[in-house]
Amino acid sequence: MVPSWTVPDTLRRSEARESNYMIKRTHNCGALRATDEGNNARLAGWVNTVRDQGKGLVFIDLRDRGGLTQIVFDQEDVDDSVMEVARSLRREDVIGIEGLVRRRDGRENPRIETGHIEVVGQSLEVFNRVQDLPILPDEHDAADMSEEVRLRHRQIDLRRPSMQAKLQMRHDLSKATRDFFHRFGFLEIETPLLIRSTPEGARDFVVPSRIYPGRWYALPQSPQIFKQILMVAGCDRYMQICKCLRDEDPRADRQAEFTQIDLELSFTDQDEIIKIMTAYLRRICKDLREIELGEIPQIPWQEAMDTWGVDRPDLRFELHLQDISDLAKQTEFKVFTNVFTHDDGTVRAIRLPGAATLFTRKKIDLLEETAKTHGAGGLPWTRWTTDGPDGGIAKFLAPIADDLAESMGLEDGDLVVFAADRWETAVSALGQVRLRAGTLMSLREGGWRACWVVDFPMFRWVEDRQRWVSEHHPFTAPRVEDLERLESDPGSVLSAGYDLILNGSEIGGGSIRIHDSAVQQRVFNVLGLTEAETREKFGFLLDALKHGAPPHGGIALGLDRLVMHLTDTENIRDVIAFPKTQNGADLMTEAPGPIDQEQLDELQITVHEEVAADS
Ligand code: AMO
Repeated sequence: MVPSWTVPDTLRRSEARESNYMIKRTHNCGALRATDEGNNARLAGWVNTVRDQGKGLVFIDLRDRGGLTQIVFDQEDVDDSVMEVARSLRREDVIGIEGLVRRRDGRENPRIETGHIEVVGQSLEVFNRVQDLPILPDEHDAADMSEEVRLRHRQIDLRRPSMQAKLQMRHDLSKATRDFFHRFGFLEIETPLLIRSTPEGARDFVVPSRIYPGRWYALPQSPQIFKQILMVAGCDRYMQICKCLRDEDPRADRQAEFTQIDLELSFTDQDEIIKIMTAYLRRICKDLREIELGEIPQIPWQEAMDTWGVDRPDLRFELHLQDISDLAKQTEFKVFTNVFTHDDGTVRAIRLPGAATLFTRKKIDLLEETAKTHGAGGLPWTRWTTDGPDGGIAKFLAPIADDLAESMGLEDGDLVVFAADRWETAVSALGQVRLRAGTLMSLREGGWRACWVVDFPMFRWVEDRQRWVSEHHPFTAPRVEDLERLESDPGSVLSAGYDLILNGSEIGGGSIRIHDSAVQQRVFNVLGLTEAETREKFGFLLDALKHGAPPHGGIALGLDRLVMHLTDTENIRDVIAFPKTQNGADLMTEAPGPIDQEQLDELQITVHEEVAADS
């Protein structure tokens, strides 16, 4: 909610003038109500509309962050000079007015909060006249405008009430977050921006050092190592709302420069962190959106992948994946049977209830396209009728029709889609088909659903690099019971990591950390780092873990993503005041830009001639 503000009565004027700032406002443009009738009010803001009625009346809708108020200048009440200035006003001129609050009896405007009153203008000051307005801050215009134009003229784009509401929600969320964690004894501590690289899996942004030519700072991908060191330093419970920088390609829910709500706790365990964060999520959904989250289950990663085909399941609708491998083996369909030459070959299927008529060939093609984009060779399908399968791969399914119908609960009018591949490709591709089908069938209408995903694998094998990488980050602890298999079978080791998912989007991730330097070294070894490399990069952390490290763990939430949910926004750039484009540019300031030769010389940096010529 936008607060209304009042200013002491410092000045009174009764004329029109071009000035700096003489009329000091008493209210914002959303504050006045019928109960203010008869009072004097002074408002300031942007001209949203001017209507010259030609009968000696000029109506102005004045706008600021608080809302809109109708002002009327009547030639019966004011000097001609005031009327002349009022008539000369244009969209987005910045003015101040003073006048008397009057009820709009019979002419109320129920669409705005101040719609029961208008202010009868007595004085008018023009603070700034608009020249060559490139865009208008109107909601209906913005929908058709290219994002590039909006970002280039962000100073106007942000004036739109919907954008102001998103910034307000961002503020409200930050405040609610600080209040919540303050009550639980968390201390907000800032961590540095110029650091040595922290491995979070993305590329670093780097900053050259002037004092140490040839050396570079990295900008933090997250404050991960610092927050762990703060636990070793006895800070007990840390939180920070901080900027993180990752040189990766922006997407609809990803920016190179984004904000985290970052937390770390000492003497804790996974259950406690999940409990605190569940309470936090419930609180903000309730307080900021009046949404009661129902049950928030903890789902093991393996189950998430098998049932929803993603590690961030959207629980707002069912359409579960089903394993039909045993039945598929009994068919003559090569696409099915060939996958079993692989140890992890599998056939999975989804029942789309009642979708046989809803899904034309065109829509099935859309689903197939999704499956292919995510690695599947195609998307076999069939429709289900009272006589069994019909269309698509029906003829191959005849021998297993009854068993398939029984195991999948198929009914007349269903559409069934299949994926046959190695496990990860089959479930992932079908998981994406599920999401697309959910959209096409408008299944996300129910309330919000959150869940935790737990029991992640500790490592992932990367074929082209021929090495293990961390599923979370290298400081995540393996589950105690799996520690003995760390070297002998890294792929089977599960971690004490957990992700928080809201409506199918990952809004947070964290873990219990390793607090023993020997275990940390063993994990680095599995990741292919030699002791010398580890010493060079993380010597300070290994030392800290020998200097009195409490058991600790933490989590980071994506603040921008939370604001997206809280404001029903699809595009992360709309919840950030000054975001970067898909190509990483700030169109308003035109960053990144070149720097002076003098700066380059000072940093002892030479730019290749052909690069310099291009920039
Ligand atoms: P992680 O990398 O999972 O964990 O990030 C935590 C959360 O931050 C959000 N997020 C992003 N939001 C917008 N744009 C991005 N590029 C982006 N990347 C991540 C997501 C994600 O869940 N240090 C660990 C946390 C920990 O272990 O405590 C970390 O950064 O919502």
